Amino acid sequence: MSYEHLFPTRDDIPAEHRLDPYPADAYLVDGELRRWAGPAETAFGPVFVRTGGGLERPSIGHYPLHDEATALEAVRAAARAYDRGRGAWPTMTVAARIERVQDFALRMKGQREPVVRLMMWEIGKSLADARREFDRTIEYIDDTIDALKDLDRHSSRFIISQGVIGQVRRAPLGVALCMGPSNYPLNETYTTLIPALIMGNTAVMKTPRPGTLLHAPLLEALRDAFPRGVVNTVSGTGRAVAPPMMASGGVDVLAFIGSAPAADALKRAHPAPHRLRSVLGLEAKNPGVVLPDADLDLAVRECALGALSYNGQRCTALKILFVHQSVLPGFLDRLSRAVEGLRPGMPWDDGVTITPLPDLAQVGKQLDLIDDALGKGAHVVNRGGGESCQTLLLPAVLHPVVPGMRLYDEEQWGPIVPVVAFDDLETPVSYVLASKYGQQVSVFGRDAETIGRLIDPLVNQVCRVNINSQCQRGPDVFPFTGRKDSAEGTLSVSDALRVFSIRTLVAAKEHPDNRALISRIVRERRSSFLNTDFIL
Ligand code: G3H
Repeated sequence: MSYEHLFPTRDDIPAEHRLDPYPADAYLVDGELRRWAGPAETAFGPVFVRTGGGLERPSIGHYPLHDEATALEAVRAAARAYDRGRGAWPTMTVAARIERVQDFALRMKGQREPVVRLMMWEIGKSLADARREFDRTIEYIDDTIDALKDLDRHSSRFIISQGVIGQVRRAPLGVALCMGPSNYPLNETYTTLIPALIMGNTAVMKTPRPGTLLHAPLLEALRDAFPRGVVNTVSGTGRAVAPPMMASGGVDVLAFIGSAPAADALKRAHPAPHRLRSVLGLEAKNPGVVLPDADLDLAVRECALGALSYNGQRCTALKILFVHQSVLPGFLDRLSRAVEGLRPGMPWDDGVTITPLPDLAQVGKQLDLIDDALGKGAHVVNRGGGESCQTLLLPAVLHPVVPGMRLYDEEQWGPIVPVVAFDDLETPVSYVLASKYGQQVSVFGRDAETIGRLIDPLVNQVCRVNINSQCQRGPDVFPFTGRKDSAEGTLSVSDALRVFSIRTLVAAKEHPDNRALISRIVRERRSSFLNTDFIL
């Protein structure tokens, strides 16, 4: 069947969602928005347009393909602003930094519409999800401010122990390189950038590819809200710009969301690895386990959502399902119907779930994975599963998936739901134990004894066990991390503040002269660090 009709003609696109090619020539370095005159990447979004002559893929804009020299200039600008910890930003009071971040959030809110529109066109995220990503990022910023106020309140008091008086606060680390992913280009970039900044670090933000255009409407806000050089931006091929920045030794914290091999290569490029702190969000192959007594309607709902929201392009997606033989026929039947009911279409279409993938190579990879499984004995269970038209790929439920098929242990990063049948609980447990990934798992069932026994080995292999619900990152107050090849360091609203800072103290013997000296420093407000101020 042909699916060309799912792509729009130009006239079909609602006026409020149309996009004229967007020239993102500007980048932010040393407090200036500079125009890039070097090579540029022409961006083609996932959306094709139907014309008289067939399908065409319109260009949606272009952005700088920065080179090594420009990337290094960004690192130097961030290092100058940090000035080995003497810069205006790292020595500013927490209250003053919070004000700047609040100012940024206010300016950012004004750019919701262009950012959301670019997100739809650049990475094919549905309108509802793109709006959610934007709003969730604003909420994260607000929550980060509250968490820092809280932290600061606790740190504002003096501790006296064994004749020593001290005040312990969190101090910044230096220059942070923040590299977010294409699937959550805004949220996962800003959930590292904002905590890094608010703790007093300066930053270079390398925008993802695709996922750079949508950052352009926020550059002015970054320039105007923060002092010169505190935020700098770089775009282009990660391979061209990121290793030189790391090799320069000018990066103190690497915040990277992407693949484990890329993260390892970046860490290895740093000349002093002991000085580098890393927080990494990497790959995953989160399994769902459907037990014999599971509520099948609930399990199917959560599995379909967990496996296929944003076409399965989430690190937290359910990427393989282990279903007990006794409920397999009923489960497959319900899951097929649920998947067939997911609406494919364009990101702005009402109620759409399946949208075009960002590039054709991604579709090719999914088709290869499906072919590999079919060649080894699996079947596509749902109607239309695995059929494609250019960037649009209909989700495929595959069964039986067995060891030896690529889909059994490879992260698909797309709309495929591999289903494995099991008799013995040891099968899914051994799978988790043997997996090189260790992010999350979902368990569907009702028996307290079975689920209780499953939890204990699983929590030592993954970092979140979800009962009767899909895997997910949020709510953002919960720790988001993983074991093995899935993560390094923990992110959450409060954990991120810790990741981008180090506990530092000012201490003195409890002598009357020292007490008097400290009192004067505090009373006369001689230090931003040593003070008893806190923000309500
Ligand atoms: O790609 C990984 C994201 O952190 C997933 O976040 O579970 O909220 O979709 P989410």
